[in-house]
Amino acid sequence: MSLSVTLRVWRQAGPGKPGQFVDYPAKDLNPNMSFLEMLDVVNDELTLKGEEPIAFAHDCREGICGTCSLVINGKPHGPQQGVASCQTYMRSFRDGDLIVVEPFRARPFPVIKDLITDRSAFDRIQQAGGFITARTGSAPEANALPVPKGDADLAMDAAQCIGCGACVAACKNASAMLFVAAKVSHLGLMPQGQAERDRRVLAMVETMDGLGFGGCVNQYECSAACPKLISHDFIARLNGDYRRAVFRAAFKPVAAGE
Ligand code: SF4
Ligand code: FES
Repeated sequence: MSLSVTLRVWRQAGPGKPGQFVDYPAKDLNPNMSFLEMLDVVNDELTLKGEEPIAFAHDCREGICGTCSLVINGKPHGPQQGVASCQTYMRSFRDGDLIVVEPFRARPFPVIKDLITDRSAFDRIQQAGGFITARTGSAPEANALPVPKGDADLAMDAAQCIGCGACVAACKNASAMLFVAAKVSHLGLMPQGQAERDRRVLAMVETMDGLGFGGCVNQYECSAACPKLISHDFIARLNGDYRRAVFRAAFKPVAAGE
């Protein structure tokens, strides 16, 4: 059984250029093809007709890299929960559907072309503090550095974040707090992340604010749109870490000569 749909796609020639929706028919599709494969088919047809193919970002196509970034029918990453755009399949739609496809909409993620946005703002937040300086060397013996099971599990949950930006696109305030919370918590829960714990959260939050992301509005659209189902509980953890870091920075002992 095949299905045919109409795509209403945001076309924009470049950064700062005016954009508009353009309709394209997508006919006789295999329901088991992925959404990106469907776009490949449409692009092949456009190319054969001598028209400009639809620009969209992708890399791994298996929910790992966070590159795909489509808003499908108003939802970042589409209608299904817990999957990235590349893991959305045409069987999620019905024959005859009109499917609206847009780029992530947030001021810190300007459109580069069509469905591709510049999400390098996330790189700058990561560069501000999303690292450790402890020498990790080769893999240590598993029990050499005990980590409580609860902390290890939580750190693994936070480490699932693929940096896609759907949390920002889903938030009416374009908040990046779920992303920052995941990155801060992932490292802050591990012994190796303690040395820079305060410096990390202060620098990442300051960078996030400086880049124009808004604050959390406590409606949790972020975690609903997150392909890795990162819990908004991590935002509460981020707020706690941030408050403690601000407090400790205010009462930091001053060394002689400073
Ligand atoms: S928290 Fe979720 S939605 Fe936000 S960047 Fe990470 S994986 Fe993407
Ligand atoms: S293309 Fe890598 S997560 Fe979708």
